[in-house]
Amino acid sequence: MNSPLNNTTFCLHTFGCQMNKHDSERVEGMLEALGSLPVQSVEEADIVVFLTCCVREAADTRLYGQVSSLKNLPLRDGSPLRQRIVAVGGCIGQRDGEKLVQQMPHLNVVFGTHNLASLPGLLEVAASQGGHQVEVLEASENFNDQLPSVREQAWAAWLPITIGCNNFCTYCIVPYVRGREKSRPLEDIQAEAQELVGQGVKEITLLGQNVNSYGRDLYGRPRFVDVLDAVAETGIERIRFATSHPKDLTDEVIERFATLENLMPYLHLPAQSGSNRILKAMNRRYTREHYLDLVRKVREACPGIALSTDIIVGFPGETEEDFLDTLALVREVGYNQAFTFIYSRREGTPAAAMEDDTPREVIQERFDRLVEAVQEGACAANQAFLGAVQPVLVEGSSKRDERLLVGKSPHNVTVHAPLPEGVSAEQLAGSTVNVRIDEARTWYLSGKLAE
Ligand code: 5AD
Ligand code: SF4
Repeated sequence: MNSPLNNTTFCLHTFGCQMNKHDSERVEGMLEALGSLPVQSVEEADIVVFLTCCVREAADTRLYGQVSSLKNLPLRDGSPLRQRIVAVGGCIGQRDGEKLVQQMPHLNVVFGTHNLASLPGLLEVAASQGGHQVEVLEASENFNDQLPSVREQAWAAWLPITIGCNNFCTYCIVPYVRGREKSRPLEDIQAEAQELVGQGVKEITLLGQNVNSYGRDLYGRPRFVDVLDAVAETGIERIRFATSHPKDLTDEVIERFATLENLMPYLHLPAQSGSNRILKAMNRRYTREHYLDLVRKVREACPGIALSTDIIVGFPGETEEDFLDTLALVREVGYNQAFTFIYSRREGTPAAAMEDDTPREVIQERFDRLVEAVQEGACAANQAFLGAVQPVLVEGSSKRDERLLVGKSPHNVTVHAPLPEGVSAEQLAGSTVNVRIDEARTWYLSGKLAE
C-alpha cells in the first residue's frame, strides 16, 4: 500500500443526526481501506476528523473549542506523519468552507456534505504536501453508495433513501447546508437492502430528512410506500424509518404498519409545536388537528404503536398560551419518547429575522415543564409492556453491569435482562431473544429471558 495514510491512526468525532452517523461509517470504511487504524483518543490519533452539525448553536461552539484544543497536542511517537491532520466536514464544513481555515489556521482539511468521497484524497494531499485543503461542492452527484463502510453494529444498517430537504421550516438550516431533496432510485435501494440481508443484517433504518416525499423528484409523485414494500420483500427482520414529516405521511404508509410484519411498531413523527399559530410561523404546513388525526389513524392501524417526536420550545414570539398548547399535545398523545430542543437562532433562516423577545428564563422554565411532561408520558407508556414477552434484538451488555444484556424491543424501547450462565453479551449480540418484562421505568424496561 503506498497511501501516505498507510500505518496512520485516526479518531472520528461525529455530531448530530443519523445521516452523519451513517456518513461516519463511510469515513471509517474509506480510511481503513487506506491502511489507517481507528483509535479512541485524539492523543493517539494522527488524523482527527469531525463530522459536524449546525442545527443548533451549541454544536458550533463546541467544535471551535475541540479543534483549538488540538493545536498544541503533540503527535504520538512513531507516527508516519510530520504533523497531526485535523479535518472538519459535515454541515459546518458545508456552511463555512474556507472561512474555517481563516478562523482556525491549524485546520488542515475542510470538506462538505456533498463530497464525502473526496476526503481520503484531501487527507493524502494534506499529509504529503501540507497546506490547507478545502473542497465544498454546491450539490451532490451521488449517494456515495459505492464507498466502503464499517458498520458500528454488524447487524444494524442505515440505508439513505433521500438526501437534502425542500421543506424550509423557518427555523431550520438543513435545506441550506444539505441542499435540495434528491431521491435514490428504487432499484438501488432494493439492491442494497438485499445485499445487507445477505450479510446477515437484522435491522434496516431507512433514512431521509422527509422520507414521505421520497420519489417526488424521480417519479413525479411520492413513492415511499413502494420503498417500504420493496425492502419488506427482502425478508429483513426489522425495518424502521426516520424522519417523517406529518404533512406528507400518507394513508398507504400508515396502512403498512398493519400489513407489513417486518415494519416495526414505532414511528418518529416530529410535531415541533402544538400551537397552530406557531406551526404556521414555522412553515410546517399542517395543523394541530391534522397531526392528532394522523396519530389517531396510526394507532388505529397499529394498536400500541410507540410514538416519538421532536419539539422546539421558545420559537420567536411563542406565548405562554402557545406553549400550553404544546404541553397539552404532548399529554394528549402520550409519547414513548420525545426529543426536546430550545429554539436556537440560525443566521440565514427566516426565523432569525423574527422578533424574539421571550426572556431566556421563561423559555428555560417552559422547557423544564415540557421535559417533565415527556417523562411522565414515557413512564406511563412503558407500563403497557409489564408482563408481556418482547422479542429483543441484543446490542451488547449494559455499561453498568456486564451480566445484563441490552437490546431493543420492536417498539424501540431499551430492554435489560440478566444473561444466562456462561453466555456473554457478545455471543448474543445481533440475535433476537424473548424477554418477559417485569419492570417498566421511564427510559427502559427490564425482565428475564423467556422461551
Ligand atoms: N433550533 C432548535 N431546534 C431545531 N431543530 C431544527 N432546527 C432547530 C433550531 N434552529 C430541531 C427540530 C428538528 C430536530 C432534528 O432538530 O426539532 O426536528
Ligand atoms: Fe429542517 Fe423542516 Fe427539512 Fe426537517 S423538514 S430538515 S425541520 S427544514
